[in-house]
Amino acid sequence: MNADARLAAVRLRLSESEPDAFLVTGVHNIIYVTGFDGVFDEDASAVCLVTPDVARVYTDSRYVEAARTAAVGTQWTLSLSSGSLDAHVAAEIADEGIDALGFESALSCGRHRKLSERSGARLVLTERWVEELREVKEPAELERIAQAAALTDRAFDHILGVLAPGMTETEVAVELESFMRLNGSEGVAFPSIVASGPNSSRPHATVTGRRIDHGDPVTLDFGARIGGYCADMTRTVVVGTATDEFREVYEVVRSANTIGVETVRGGLSGAAIDGTAREAIGDAGFGEHFGHGLGHGVGLEVHELPSVGPRGSRPVPPGAVVTIEPGVYLEGRFGVRIEDLVVVESDGCHVLTTSPRGLIEV
Ligand code: CO
Repeated sequence: MNADARLAAVRLRLSESEPDAFLVTGVHNIIYVTGFDGVFDEDASAVCLVTPDVARVYTDSRYVEAARTAAVGTQWTLSLSSGSLDAHVAAEIADEGIDALGFESALSCGRHRKLSERSGARLVLTERWVEELREVKEPAELERIAQAAALTDRAFDHILGVLAPGMTETEVAVELESFMRLNGSEGVAFPSIVASGPNSSRPHATVTGRRIDHGDPVTLDFGARIGGYCADMTRTVVVGTATDEFREVYEVVRSANTIGVETVRGGLSGAAIDGTAREAIGDAGFGEHFGHGLGHGVGLEVHELPSVGPRGSRPVPPGAVVTIEPGVYLEGRFGVRIEDLVVVESDGCHVLTTSPRGLIEV
């Protein structure tokens, strides 16, 4: 991880902008700018203060030992807080006479008010400074995402041998997740979706105790996490024999997935990539049944920049990792989604998830 380059990039943003200092409060942004692996696990674990000559991590006794080890060889200094991290950093901001302090948009209103009162600084909203840096992955990050994708593929192969009528969605989710954890995943990238029968028409269905019946489609949307980095993949399979109508919808989604993957290349806007797959689904007569964006960036978080949806106006840069996940959802009946994870390249993309895309009946 190239922590010095990341810090330099943040300082460059700072030098081009109004604030004199920048407070990093989102945990994934903190992990990114510090390059500290496996130390912080929630927003409340640390805050980072960056000025032209200060790079300081405020944390508490729960994390300080791991942070001290991670800080060796970096430009980051550590400050151990015994009470509130925000109160501590606010007092130091006041001491340093910082006038304008940049903050991240996810900061809560309550924390914003306390920081502003206690530091005496004027708080200036910054937009996605670290999130935009995170968009283009370094080789070491790509390696971790590729490992997570490979484990996700293995878990799919495993579940095909297990899926059977009579199993509940919960049992399938636990089996998927335990396979990933026992084979090297740190928890899971996000709560798995196992949506069977009519539940599959809900794109983000929650896992239920519903028993899978013979002939049910089952949408499996899940991902491993390795070295802090996520994978994200979806397949819809049929337990038993698919109906003709299901086959028709499946082929529409499969062809939209292929078109999306073939369209991706660096420099195209997210909306342009989304548009090609969306048009294919529309041409097949299912346009109103594809409500969500075609894809999203994936990295330290499962949903990050860039957007690959109708509102994705910015170009998708080479080195970004995005999903291509068209779906068709027929309310109360069934849904199909086929999602792959790809690395954007200047002249195309490299597909990381390699599980079969043809209709699988188990
Ligand atoms: Co996704």
